[in-house]
Amino acid sequence: MTDARLLRNCRVAGLGALALGAFLTLSGPAAIAAEASTNGGTAPAAKPVTFAKDVAPILQARCQECHRQGSMAPMSLITYEETRPWAKSIRQRVITHQMPPWHIDKTVGVHEFKNDMSLTDDQIATIVRWVDSGAPMGDPKDMPPPRQWPADNEWKAAKELGQPDLVIKSDPYTMAAHHQDVWWRPVSDIPVTEPRWVRAVEVRPTTAAGRRVTHHAVAYLAQDDPDSVLPGTGDSDFGARSFLMEWAIGKGYDLYRPDTGKLLLPGSQISWDIHIHAVGEEIQDSVELALWLYPKGQEPKYRTYLTAFQALRGFKDSTAAQNRLGKNMDIAPNSMSQTDNYTVLRKPAILENFQPHMHLRGKAMLVEAILPDGSVQTISYVGNFNFNWMTNYIYADDAAPVLPKGTVIHVTAWYDNTTANPFNPDPDQWVGYGDRTVDEMGHAWMNVTYISDEDYNAWAAKHKNKLPAEATAQR
Ligand code: HEC
Repeated sequence: MTDARLLRNCRVAGLGALALGAFLTLSGPAAIAAEASTNGGTAPAAKPVTFAKDVAPILQARCQECHRQGSMAPMSLITYEETRPWAKSIRQRVITHQMPPWHIDKTVGVHEFKNDMSLTDDQIATIVRWVDSGAPMGDPKDMPPPRQWPADNEWKAAKELGQPDLVIKSDPYTMAAHHQDVWWRPVSDIPVTEPRWVRAVEVRPTTAAGRRVTHHAVAYLAQDDPDSVLPGTGDSDFGARSFLMEWAIGKGYDLYRPDTGKLLLPGSQISWDIHIHAVGEEIQDSVELALWLYPKGQEPKYRTYLTAFQALRGFKDSTAAQNRLGKNMDIAPNSMSQTDNYTVLRKPAILENFQPHMHLRGKAMLVEAILPDGSVQTISYVGNFNFNWMTNYIYADDAAPVLPKGTVIHVTAWYDNTTANPFNPDPDQWVGYGDRTVDEMGHAWMNVTYISDEDYNAWAAKHKNKLPAEATAQR
């Protein structure tokens, strides 16, 4: 593959996203307004859009989980009185696809997700028409009954799975009001006395205040088990430890597909790596992890591995100094920049999800699969990465890519160190690799489930004459 092709790919993908944004911003609402104004005369009036009848149900379905008292968002969007002052801002956020925070480009790669919280084009049009027609209340009798919410300390996965089997908490850390970033690395025991398989994992800072200072948390699984280190990837220095779960602002939980899990052995521990930043107020918090287990004695057929597919070169060397030198990250002031890297899958595999990870200059990330026959399939692309939202895009069971042995995963990341990036703390700074939010990194978190050659062959026979991505898109 040539760099020219890469560049072309990047431009096409980037332009596509831009063009779509421009269309929605300008033509969409303008066209709707034009349609509304021509209805003034003899034509039958367009049905008026009201809060009670049309907008409240959308807010209930897609916004209130975060926009209600005691949840994470800055304001409640439950009643008309609460929502009305935000009408213009809501219009802006939904047409630019910033809210709900779902930034993946669904027109390329995998199209279907288990946890899709985005609005449909119709829902966006409804909100825009409502705002453009003066954001009327309508008839209060049309209001849907209020939605009931679980208590604030509920695990998100509890709705689907019930209460977790185990909850493991890190030692607490007290972050000063003003301080440099801290990496808190305590160790916690996992109280299992026999091998147990994990079905789902959820991680969260323990308190709401903790969510403001916890940038992200990685839970490594420390146990004496050579098999727990990613088979088949091998050439990233993350391979030296196995991952259980990664949490970052806005993330939900990992639920493995049927007959798939992660293995815990007696004596295993969680080795935490918690990145905390100061917010001008002293805050004490810990991070906690909930595990849902398979019943005792039940062994799922497949094992899944949380993998950080690098977009940076130079991760082969193991010492920190070598890594710092070798990371190939060199972002000049006031410029755009790009890094990429390749990882070979040495066994057939299913990719379960995609969560791009970059810092404040992160702009876009593309994951492609280069198949053994040389063809290239786009797996996922996020064109307007937003550092505040480390959204985890979980592929629908039937849409998750199934890839043959020898597939190369190619991850490309783009960084915007210009004034055009609203999150950029200082475009005049050079930026290199590092752990702090003002440094950069780039990798795609994916849960990878390795399958046997027989299973892959059976899958391929069923989807004959189709490239994997086409087959997965059409299954
Ligand atoms: C996953 C949680 C979540 C969901 C779902 C969500 N929001 Fe938000 N929203 C937030 C958070 C947190 C912020 C503040 C940080 C930010 O702007 O990203 C925010 C900010 C906003 C703002 C900007 C407020 C300001 O200060 O200007 C608007 C408007 C908004 N959301 C509207 C919506 C609408 C409308 C929906 C549903 C269609 C929605 N949000 C869904 C969490 C959420």
